[in-house]
Amino acid sequence: MEHTYKDRKYAPIGVFDSGIGGLTVAREIMRQIPHEDIIYFGDTARVPYGSKSKDTIIRFSRQIIRFLKTKDVKAIVVACNTASAQALEDIRPELDIPILGVVKPGARVAAEVTKNDKIGVIATSSTIESQLYNRVIHMHNPKAQVFGKACPLFVPLVEEGWLKDPVTKEVACRYLEPLMASGIDTLIMGCTHFPLLRSLLREILGEEVMLVNPAYETTKDLERVLKENGIANDGAGRTDGQRHEFYVSDAANKFRAFADSILPYGVDRTQLIDIESY
Ligand code: DGL
Repeated sequence: MEHTYKDRKYAPIGVFDSGIGGLTVAREIMRQIPHEDIIYFGDTARVPYGSKSKDTIIRFSRQIIRFLKTKDVKAIVVACNTASAQALEDIRPELDIPILGVVKPGARVAAEVTKNDKIGVIATSSTIESQLYNRVIHMHNPKAQVFGKACPLFVPLVEEGWLKDPVTKEVACRYLEPLMASGIDTLIMGCTHFPLLRSLLREILGEEVMLVNPAYETTKDLERVLKENGIANDGAGRTDGQRHEFYVSDAANKFRAFADSILPYGVDRTQLIDIESY
């Protein structure tokens, strides 16, 4: 262990993703529970997870969790929808700290807010294939019809910064067309990158369709879990200014540029680690 926190309240939260997209989840945690410190890991060397097999995603997730445990994190958030869908249930029994994914909270809220029981899910191919969104939605709302659509091209378009580009709009229209034809009134943005396309999605879908960002609800669940376990940070033990730490497995500069564009403050330092050694 590099650090140990005597008072678990002041230990950080581990947040991980296949790359940079999970910063949308970290941002939500920073916004809703600002006293909490974050250790973020983005697996930029091995992204995308969305086209990889379940076994590979489980192996990668185990390595990342071993790394996060060296930082003595008090809880872990799997910010990546694909890892939440493919690895979380296998890994949960191996851990002695709370671990939360983004799929279940997102599915639950969609099941609750839909009025016509027609819910769309856009995500990576792997998340759609896992059917986890469908299963959890049906647990909460057995009447719901779920329409999944893999949207793999959104990931590189967002990473390119083409959030409002005509090319992205054309791609989005093609992806969303069958969902709109199905009459959905709720759409889950089931991939870390997709909340960054919110205004484009809104423009295409109109005001009637509710857009669900799983990160929002996941953070609410995280806050509740921390309180229930008596490990919520009250901010009283705060000592210095630089509180969040960012680690990646490759291309730290690209990560930093993206982080600076979406986080409310600059990321001074991103550290490169050899994730295969964990
Ligand atoms: N972070 C992934 C997710 O939320 C998207 C990128 C990838 O395919 O790894 O599903």
